Amino acid sequence: MTSSAPRIAVLISGEGSNLQALIDATRNGGIHAEIVCVLSNRAAARGLERARRAGIQAQHLGSKDSDRARYDVALTQAVGEHEPSLIVLAGFMQILGPSFLARFGERILNIHPSLLPNYRGLDTHRRVLEAGDPTHGATVHFVTAQLDAGPRVLQYRLDVGPGDTVETLTARVHTGEHIILPRAAAWFVSGRLRLTGSEVMLDGRLLQEPVVVEEQR
Ligand code: GRF
Repeated sequence: MTSSAPRIAVLISGEGSNLQALIDATRNGGIHAEIVCVLSNRAAARGLERARRAGIQAQHLGSKDSDRARYDVALTQAVGEHEPSLIVLAGFMQILGPSFLARFGERILNIHPSLLPNYRGLDTHRRVLEAGDPTHGATVHFVTAQLDAGPRVLQYRLDVGPGDTVETLTARVHTGEHIILPRAAAWFVSGRLRLTGSEVMLDGRLLQEPVVVEEQR
């Protein structure tokens, strides 16, 4: 990878299967960019190990003992050192602060395990099952100060069946996330996708509704 390639920073908190999908995509030509750093707010995040195995600089930046404002500044600085053109939140379970958003706003993408605006927050699969919803999925959206409420880009949609459980939905949604997150990242680094104010532009056109990918079974 040449040093002129777009630079991606990935923030994680756990397993890192979405990070792995991003790493794989940068290797198989799906994303023309370099992942320059992986940061986790949890030391035990398995994704840190995945990053190191892939030769990517991986860092734990704990939030436990520092107050929110200090963590915000520290995270902004740690990510800023890598001069990323895109930041991907791939299962990062920490709310970003104002200094991070001020510095990197309009170039942060997040993956969320629901069809936003439905089911912001945690425990989405259980809540979908309890509500008896016929559909479920995942959303890639730009990050703003409102939790899980930034402009949507891409969704993966699946039909919920009578036999579905939290476990089956977790696995099916993950499969979809691994498709749509690398795709949105590829669009962004190639210049096809942009956030302008609160408007998502794809290929020079205003995206009124997110692009939808249906599950193939
Ligand atoms: C994903 O389901 C993501 O949507 C949610 O956390 C999970 C992270 O999974 N925010 P992984 O760490 O990428 O495997």
